[in-house]
Amino acid sequence: MPLLAVNVDHVATVRQARLAASPDPVAAAAMAELAGARAIIVHLREDRRHIQDRDVRLLRQTVKTRLHLEMAATDEMRGIALELRPHMVCLVPEKRQELTTEGGLGVAGREEELGEFVAALKTAGIPTSLFIDPEPAQIEAAVATGAAYVELHTGAYSDAATAFARQTELKRLLAAIPMARQAGLGVNLGHGLDYDNIYAFAHVSGISEYSIGHSIIARAIMTGISEAVTTMAGIIAGFPD
Ligand code: PXP
Repeated sequence: MPLLAVNVDHVATVRQARLAASPDPVAAAAMAELAGARAIIVHLREDRRHIQDRDVRLLRQTVKTRLHLEMAATDEMRGIALELRPHMVCLVPEKRQELTTEGGLGVAGREEELGEFVAALKTAGIPTSLFIDPEPAQIEAAVATGAAYVELHTGAYSDAATAFARQTELKRLLAAIPMARQAGLGVNLGHGLDYDNIYAFAHVSGISEYSIGHSIIARAIMTGISEAVTTMAGIIAGFPD
């Protein structure tokens, strides 16, 4: 059975909007695990716009399932990963100006450099996943780095503007999954997956993990708002005129 890995970055985004203590992604991670998440994912960005170092450190101590760390392939991040030893590292491209991770990692042409990065993590017992677009050249390059997994970028599929474009992107993913598996890679999927578009994979085997953040946190806000407002209205209802 594939794992549901829940990305709690957006919880930290809300917290950082006020530089407050809550909502705490560490508490959200524990609740996600109780509800059935089989892994927790955080992206520690270079600019620390959402997840903070404190979050990753605490999560490493408290996550009961698996902690996966998304990060850029930098010396700083490698040092943090080697110290904290998450269950998996996912290497992603990172640009300061982007709203979220935009494209896949350009592995082709960087096999040697990324291979050294992957090897350093492997020596410490940490498997690496490379977040790539579903392209044969990127899969071949990922194999050359010695990475254990690829995470196929589902953003182009999820964000496709027309039904035709969506089918085209789905076909690329469905061709890439067995290609990566036959090359000996584990296959994860992520980016933009939601409660509707996930059904395209309902009969697809060979996927180890679905990495999902935005749609789950967005739904949590919408399903939780009634309870939150009812509670506050109930408090104020007891106040004098
Ligand atoms: N996988 C990777 C590599 C990501 O960067 C992200 C976004 O942080 C996700 C999966 C989750 O995407 P979404 O938040 O759209 O579900």
